[in-house]
Amino acid sequence: MARLELNGKQYELPEVVGSEGERAVDISALRNNTGYITLDEGYGNTGSCQSTVTFIDGENGILRYRGIPIEELAEKSTFVETAYLLIWGKLPTLQELEDFSQLLTKNEMLHEDMKYHFEGFPTHAHPMAILSAMINAAGCFVPKLLAPGDELFVIQAARLISQVRTIAAFSYRKSLGLPIIYPKPAYKYTANLLHMMFSEPYQDYELLPEVVQALDMIFLLHADHEQNCSTSTVRMVASSRANLFACASAGVCALWGPLHGGANQAVLEMLEKIHQSGDNGSKFIEQAKDKRSGKRLMGFGHRVYKNYDPRAKIIKKKCDQLLDAMHWNDPLLDIAKRLEEAALNDPYFLERKLYPNVDFYSGIIMRAIGIPINMFTVMFSIGRMPGWISNYKEILDNKEGRIYRPRQIYQGPVENRYVPIRERQ
Ligand code: CMC
Repeated sequence: MARLELNGKQYELPEVVGSEGERAVDISALRNNTGYITLDEGYGNTGSCQSTVTFIDGENGILRYRGIPIEELAEKSTFVETAYLLIWGKLPTLQELEDFSQLLTKNEMLHEDMKYHFEGFPTHAHPMAILSAMINAAGCFVPKLLAPGDELFVIQAARLISQVRTIAAFSYRKSLGLPIIYPKPAYKYTANLLHMMFSEPYQDYELLPEVVQALDMIFLLHADHEQNCSTSTVRMVASSRANLFACASAGVCALWGPLHGGANQAVLEMLEKIHQSGDNGSKFIEQAKDKRSGKRLMGFGHRVYKNYDPRAKIIKKKCDQLLDAMHWNDPLLDIAKRLEEAALNDPYFLERKLYPNVDFYSGIIMRAIGIPINMFTVMFSIGRMPGWISNYKEILDNKEGRIYRPRQIYQGPVENRYVPIRERQ
């Protein structure tokens, strides 16, 4: 129990303790009892929900999905199995995984009429804009949208996870004016995406196992990250009981920004600029420390991690392995490593506990695979879909849940009157 003293009066506030010992003060009755609200711009101290999906200990660089360490999943699991784990809360049996994979295959095709929607976008449209619009449009092709507790949830979740990949590949092909390549039912999830993006009608793309595995692992590492900006957006929209496709589409929009998922695109653009300018990285580090420059070291820093992001560690290792396997020497990887070394020895970054995050090295892997920079955040969206769906499910399953509706402290003009236009100065 926490005690609060306000204007000489004492109030007791219940304490909530999470399964990993995280502590919160429950202020849900604060306004009713005291007339006060809490103010926490950016929500750095606000728990918006109690969730059983993902645990992060930012101080110690720990990330677990449903209790399983990310390092173990990255080594032993696949994206599809991890998606199942996140959504249904347990690892699937062989049969359950087989059924889920089949459901993904059955739902991979878009309705033929959806192809016409792609034609309405200009060639230079950002694929994230196309993705969010098309995910929302996909909801129009579902016979019946979900009600809470609906048994159709399994099918709609599978449809979304499967079709986000088809939409991503189609929008990539459209942006290059290339013919659409349909999915191959015999291919597994990530291999199918690469096939739809890079095969030609006259020649199949050669699937290198190292490439397929690296991209699959990137999806797995992005699959959930508790109450980040896009997942909170999904929960916010879901709390109004909007449908799953509308919520996922809103999640894509929130993810797009460069401070969130868009950072993977921003990192590569930053590295390319540094490379072209001939800077060894030290000039850029100085600019990133100077607030007046308007520049930040993209791919560095995190609201929750005050230590090395565990996903970044795994991705950095995978990046070295993949580039070695492909005999690829990327000068941008050297620049990234130099930037990291300089930042990790610089008091500015150390004092602020700014370490590489998931976006710092993932772009170099995607670039080696041949994925264009403007598709990077689309790849993040494909990976994050199971996390959004799990959080959407938590909202729907919570029968006592209320619509998300924060309050504010108004700082505008006090009561005023309407002045007719001729009397205005
Ligand atoms: N480069 C230089 N300075 C930084 C950086 C950076 N990347 N990140 C934070 N700072 C400074 C910031 O200027 C502030 O300094 P001061 O205390 O002197 O005012 C201090 O560090 C705290 O930063 P903040 O902006 O208050 O921290 P935040 O928790 O609000 O923001 C962040 C977190 C991730 C948005 C931020 O670190 C950032 O902009 N990083 C670069 C963009 C990025 O890589 N985003 C991907 C995040 S991980 C994946 C995801 O979420 O999708």
